[in-house]
Amino acid sequence: MFVDSACKALQQLHFSSSRWHPLRWSSLPGSSSNLNFSHSISSSGLSGHASDTAVHSASDALSKQIYKCIEVTLVEQETVGLIVLNRPEVLNALSEDLMHELVDALRVLDSMQKVGAMIITGKGKAFAAGADIKDLKDKNIADIFMLEFPSKWNDVSKIKKPIIAAVNGYALGGGCEVALMCDIILAGEKAVFGQPEINLGTIPGMGGTQRLIREVGKSSAMEMILTGSRFLDAQEAYQRGLASRVVAGSNDELVKEAISVAAKIALQSRPAVVMAKAAVNSAYELGLHEGVKKEQALFGATFALADQKEGMSAFIEKRQPQFVHT
Ligand code: CAA
Repeated sequence: MFVDSACKALQQLHFSSSRWHPLRWSSLPGSSSNLNFSHSISSSGLSGHASDTAVHSASDALSKQIYKCIEVTLVEQETVGLIVLNRPEVLNALSEDLMHELVDALRVLDSMQKVGAMIITGKGKAFAAGADIKDLKDKNIADIFMLEFPSKWNDVSKIKKPIIAAVNGYALGGGCEVALMCDIILAGEKAVFGQPEINLGTIPGMGGTQRLIREVGKSSAMEMILTGSRFLDAQEAYQRGLASRVVAGSNDELVKEAISVAAKIALQSRPAVVMAKAAVNSAYELGLHEGVKKEQALFGATFALADQKEGMSAFIEKRQPQFVHT
């Protein structure tokens, strides 16, 4: 019975190594002390939206370097994917193109065996100041439903590997909601979190009403969402558990710290990390009893991994584990 549910848990995680295929794009000599955006995979020419279909098409998109609203870089011996939202002239407002690119890039990185964790940050003084209001203004209800807009953007929360949000400034509206879909939020000193959609005559549409309440509690979430003017600065976000900590210094130092955290995660067994993330996230969706059952199934599933044997052997033999990610 237990073995059955453990196997099911493994299947649900889709651990087929055949889905993992490294891209043949020029790798980057990244390290936490050597951020080199000049090598980043960014560029121009994505016409319309990148396909939201198979990882293959997304990997083609990356390898052909056709993103125009984001930059993607592999750092830390290609074990960490760094995504920079790159529309600083509009405070990285989340246009439809940007969100399609972001979701595609995350899917590609998720599919790459070598990559153990991802980071999202913003160029300039914002993480992201929300959905692009110019994109939104003339939409009608049919657009919202037929284009699954912005519900499709919730796909950020379906990525299996951990994502760190390095929030360097404004994270407002959809920007706050993207950060909330990440697994760890590191706040720079100038981080500002808020849900000002009510000022525009609308409400959060990317999970803000559901996720924010879980982080800051009902009263604060209500005040933020209903007034549209109650923002949290970095310290308050940390004190309330929205951010895991505040990183002092410049944006570069924030990104450097995020890379250092991501690199530590990337050293661990990939499948164990993915199972741990899935187990923690089930606390969002399940009651305690069901959640603990799911955790037990995933815990059991780790005993089917070579990495579990290696991790425990290494401890007993007083050496560093050499994980093979299977
Ligand atoms: N969409 C489109 N453009 C935006 C934008 C957005 N969300 N946020 C900022 N910009 C643009 C501004 O229009 C401005 O462009 P121009 O130079 O062409 O005028 C540029 O970015 C710089 O912005 P500001 O001059 O306003 O900068 P500021 O420092 O004075 O103010 C700010 C910063 C308080 C963040 C302010 O820009 C602001 O209030 N932005 C809107 C925030 C917001 O309402 N977000 C929610 C969007 S709706 C949403 O996200 C729905 C959802 O849940 C899915």
